[in-house]
Amino acid sequence: MADFSELKGKLEGIRNDVMNELKEIRNARAVYEYRKGVFDAKGGKIGSLMREMGKIAAEDRAEYGKMVNELKDWATARIDELNTRLQEEEMNLRYKSEAIDVTEPAKVREPGALHPTTQVINQIVDIFAAMGFEIFEGTEIENDYYNFTALNTPQDHPARDMQDTFYLSPEFLLRTQTSAGQIHVMEAKKPPIKILSPGKVFRSDDDATHSPMFTQMEGLVVDKGITLGDLKGMLDELVKQMFGDGVTTRLRPSYFPFTEPSVEVDVSCFQCGGKGCRLCKGTGWIEVLGAGIVNRKVLQGCGIDPEEYSGFAFGVGLERIAMLKYGYNNIKLLFESDLRVLKQIND
Ligand code: PHE
Repeated sequence: MADFSELKGKLEGIRNDVMNELKEIRNARAVYEYRKGVFDAKGGKIGSLMREMGKIAAEDRAEYGKMVNELKDWATARIDELNTRLQEEEMNLRYKSEAIDVTEPAKVREPGALHPTTQVINQIVDIFAAMGFEIFEGTEIENDYYNFTALNTPQDHPARDMQDTFYLSPEFLLRTQTSAGQIHVMEAKKPPIKILSPGKVFRSDDDATHSPMFTQMEGLVVDKGITLGDLKGMLDELVKQMFGDGVTTRLRPSYFPFTEPSVEVDVSCFQCGGKGCRLCKGTGWIEVLGAGIVNRKVLQGCGIDPEEYSGFAFGVGLERIAMLKYGYNNIKLLFESDLRVLKQIND
């Protein structure tokens, strides 16, 4: 039989051990593990004490059982206490780290918007799509033939000087005009033709109303009996829908090698209302558009019989239209991506 006072001492020892071990525990998870271990019926320091009952003299058993239960209750209370304290500490840390400062200014997410030039492209496309035009998108790198020669502008033609060209090689260049697309379309398709061709064009040119890269929209109609009257009617419709009735247009005789006759379409200056200012160089008018009746030679070169068919073409600078429509006085504003400027447009 085990010596009762020895057993008493053992229980006292366990109490001391538990006290010291609890001091080392730093988090609630460890408390949980510790509780499981200490009360384990097989190997636990306290949990296994009842198994000793058999070794105890019958008259001491009641006393021993009481002492073990007391130890159990004591340990349970200590562990619970520690658990509550650690859980509270952990919650407080979590609250602190997850705290939201409701006085902080909110992040504003601004909705995106289409660039003014893109808006103008879309508007013109819509207007002409309603008249039955199709879209043709050419390439920004062209060869000399499509950009010039096929447009009745062979090497050494003085009209080549009208546009200062960025050459990539003797044969290839950055297209100076979307007119290059006219040739591609007329080679690929027989009349009736009604196309609209938007795209970037490039010229060595730089001032308040010119940029080395800008956007053009080409229009081409080829069919039987097309006249300058058809061109004028369509341009009038375009200007009316784009600007309303306030802005006026005028046609001036002009020259392009690929149209005959050729015209220049001006709109009245939006800045000075026609009186004359720096923007319109004192004339009261701003040139926005070149146009004309497709030159017979161009039709012929594309295999279209000029006796049977005729056509008109126009090329419009879209930044110029955006400037007129939205009141920009410098074309550069359309390339600088300054949100303060772009935000003013909300079509
Ligand atoms: N391509 C000419 C230019 O860029 C514009 C134009 C197009 C003129 C079509 C006539 C016909 O200046």
